[in-house]
Amino acid sequence: MSEPRQILVTSALPYANGSIHLGHMLEYVQTDMWVRYQKLRGNQCTYVCADDAHGSAIMLRAEKEGITPEQLIAGVQAEHCSDFADFLVEFDNFHSTHAEENRELSNQIYLKLRDAGHIATRSITQYFDPDKQMFLADRFIKGTCPKCAAEDQYGDNCEKCGATYAPTELKNPKSAISGATPVLKDSQHFFFKLPDFQAMLQQWTRSGTLQDAVANKIAEWLDAGLQEWDISRDAPYFGFEIPDEPGKYFYVWLDAPIGYMASFKNLCARRPELDFDAYWNKDSKAELYHFIGKDIVNFHALFWPAMLEGAGYRKPTGINVHGYLTVNGSKMSKSRGTFIKARTYLDHLAPEYLRYYYASKLSRGVDDLDLNLEDFVQKVNSDLIGKVVNIASRCAGFIQKGNDGVMVAGDAAPELTEAFLAAAPSIADAYEARDFARAMRETMALADRANAWIADKAPWSLAKQEGKQDEVQAICAQGINLFRQLVIFLKPVLPVLAADAEAFLNVAPLTWDDHKTRLSNHQLNPFKALMNRIDPAKVEAMTAASKEDLAASQTSVVTGNGELSKDPLSPEIEFDTFAAVDLRVALILKAEAVEGADKLLRLTLDIGDEQRNVFSGIKSAYPDPAKLEGRLTMMIANLKPRKMRFGISEGMVMAAGPGGEEIYLLSPDSGAKPGQRIK
Ligand code: 2FM
Ligand code: ZN
Repeated sequence: MSEPRQILVTSALPYANGSIHLGHMLEYVQTDMWVRYQKLRGNQCTYVCADDAHGSAIMLRAEKEGITPEQLIAGVQAEHCSDFADFLVEFDNFHSTHAEENRELSNQIYLKLRDAGHIATRSITQYFDPDKQMFLADRFIKGTCPKCAAEDQYGDNCEKCGATYAPTELKNPKSAISGATPVLKDSQHFFFKLPDFQAMLQQWTRSGTLQDAVANKIAEWLDAGLQEWDISRDAPYFGFEIPDEPGKYFYVWLDAPIGYMASFKNLCARRPELDFDAYWNKDSKAELYHFIGKDIVNFHALFWPAMLEGAGYRKPTGINVHGYLTVNGSKMSKSRGTFIKARTYLDHLAPEYLRYYYASKLSRGVDDLDLNLEDFVQKVNSDLIGKVVNIASRCAGFIQKGNDGVMVAGDAAPELTEAFLAAAPSIADAYEARDFARAMRETMALADRANAWIADKAPWSLAKQEGKQDEVQAICAQGINLFRQLVIFLKPVLPVLAADAEAFLNVAPLTWDDHKTRLSNHQLNPFKALMNRIDPAKVEAMTAASKEDLAASQTSVVTGNGELSKDPLSPEIEFDTFAAVDLRVALILKAEAVEGADKLLRLTLDIGDEQRNVFSGIKSAYPDPAKLEGRLTMMIANLKPRKMRFGISEGMVMAAGPGGEEIYLLSPDSGAKPGQRIK
């Protein structure tokens, strides 16, 4: 037998300021299944992760909530850990990047890079928020797109026309944090000289470390020439201060991947069999795999191996990249209830249903994976309950009743036994190659054969006949043996089903090689239902609850990470300030799209004695504006008219919601008349 492999595996570190959703879970489940497979094979496989705890988004969110960043990340870490545990994602260690091991390793790696001449310094000019007294990352600057004039676009790219630009090109820039107009300011920054590693990366990215599609993408970047990478941020920042550089901090993406090492180091301190150096030394024989999504390939396949090389460490054996999750064919949507948090799912459904569904659709490519909720119910019910569990439930009763729960010896279907044995290497290869879909297909094909054989033998008919008891027992013992093999093949995906099956089978935890043996003259425990069918009503309840999550966060704003955070109340005002605002009931006479404006509708409003022309940025929520005609809403009638590119806007209508399709125009109860004052 070959020596057990030493394998270190990671999933991307989730940001410590938001909840885990089913999109994240795709990666953790994928990684966990691969790790469980390796452990089942007897390899020394270690799975580490951590919260990605640094950066300005986390600092700002803590500030808004009136807590310290340390308090914020501690709370989020507890939530993340329970979400992962309840999804049966079993880390050997879940640490934090805000930890001493990570500070030490980050300093050490930086100093090695600096001393080897791989760090450059120069002054750069950036937008600075004069109110908050901080430099603004591109995503904290909003303004009008310089190409298509779409309003409210981020500082580096336009979501409407797809243009990318420097924040200084944005028209009418504003700080997304304070609303202040940013000013340009210089500061000294530190750069990692990535071009020093061009030749190494050219070779390394083509050495079987990456899927072809990923290697091709990287080749485009390499051909275009690498840029130096800005690894510093100015105070205030939540992170590690750069050694010898007071007021300068490591950019979150510098110490995030080092967090993989730090989490492993933290684990080594309590697992004597794990030797940090043996895994990370330049000549390490251990394997190192990072599972990531396709959005962070540059950090893992360019910056990270270059940092490791420059600091004298080994490089990853492989970067395993997956695509995004869509739900019912589209991007997860809060308003459709398909932006599903891990916890919301768990409140309604068992984790193994989703683990199996993901497995059945995950292959080694980088294509997006669709969670179609109807297909999900159908597939899980038909495969897991209808095929796998069905074998055990059909056979167990006869053994219990007819033979006191003892499986008789003998092989009632040698051809099936042979087929199951013969299929195992191919299923193993599929797991090894992360082609879980193939592993599931081949396993279900075996389940189909087992069911067809049992149906053909029909022990339930034989049981009613005189003198057929032995035959019934032989068939059912065979059925249970086949079931046991299926459970082994599914164990990386369905650990709870496997544990419950082991209890029923009355056996020690099954390993992969156990599929080569069979139970004979073996006492079973009484059979209990191993898995229930998914009730589609539970899926509906889950999407309904996800819509409620949305309603609860309706007073929320989206932070730089795209996560929701609370939108705190504004400072109090005097009554006179309120009274100065003239709010009126308005009847929408006409609502139409504005040519050349992506977000705007032109509304013609009746406010009693006069009509108003108002431009409103609500088009994303009302793609068919004519439907608004005839509806009442509320407007601020004494707002100073504003000249816009498309005409003059004479007031403002009132709407709630974070934006996009989630904008809700306010309306008075029916009976209100246009022009009535709102007080
Ligand atoms: O994209 C993200 O969610 C990052 N927090 C992933 C970090 S992975 C690693 F490099 F730490
Ligand atoms: Zn644009």
